[in-house]
Amino acid sequence: MITGHHTEHARDLAANLLGRTGDRWRHTVAVADRAAELSTTVPTTDRDLLVAAAWLHDIGYAKPTVDTGFHPLDGARHLDRLGWPRRVAALVAHHSGARFVAAVLGLDGPLDTYPREAGPVADALTYADQTVDSRGHRVSIRDRLADMLHRHGPDSPNARAHHVREPHLLAVAQRVEARAASA
Ligand SMILES: [Fe+2]
Repeated sequence: MITGHHTEHARDLAANLLGRTGDRWRHTVAVADRAAELSTTVPTTDRDLLVAAAWLHDIGYAKPTVDTGFHPLDGARHLDRLGWPRRVAALVAHHSGARFVAAVLGLDGPLDTYPREAGPVADALTYADQTVDSRGHRVSIRDRLADMLHRHGPDSPNARAHHVREPHLLAVAQRVEARAASA
C-alpha cells in the first residue's frame, strides 16, 4: 500500500465517515488498494494524491456530508470545507464520469465549478472505482456496469446517463490497461 502525507489523512477521514457502513467501507478499502496497484500508471509525484483521492471518492455518501444528494459533488464540497487541496476535491467531484449523471440531475453547473482533470491520475481513480463492485470484490468493468444498472434501476439518473457514460468509462479502461501493460 502506498502511504504518504495525503494518503494517511485521507484514510483517517474516510474511516471516520464510512468505517461503520459495511459494504460501502469494504468497497472504499478495495478501491484504495486497487488505486495503489495502479499507481505505476501515474507519475511518481502523483501517487500519494491518487491513493488519497481513492480513499475519499465516496465520502459524499456519508450522512454528515450529504447536501445535494449527489455524492461526487457532496464529497468534493466537504473536502473544500475541510481545506483539502483543490485538486483532490476536483478528482472526487469528477470521478467515474460524474459529469454525465450530473447533467441528468441538473447539477452540471455546480459540478463544473471544479476543474475536470484529464490524464493518468483521473483515469486511474475512475478505473479503480469501476473494477471493484459495491461490496468490495474485484470485477471486470463490464460486470461492474451491469451490476450498477441493476442496483440503480432502469429509470435512475445513472441509467439515463448510461449511453454517454459507458463509452467514456470503457475508453478510460483502455487507456489505463495500456499504461499498466507498459509500466
Ligand atoms: Fe466508488
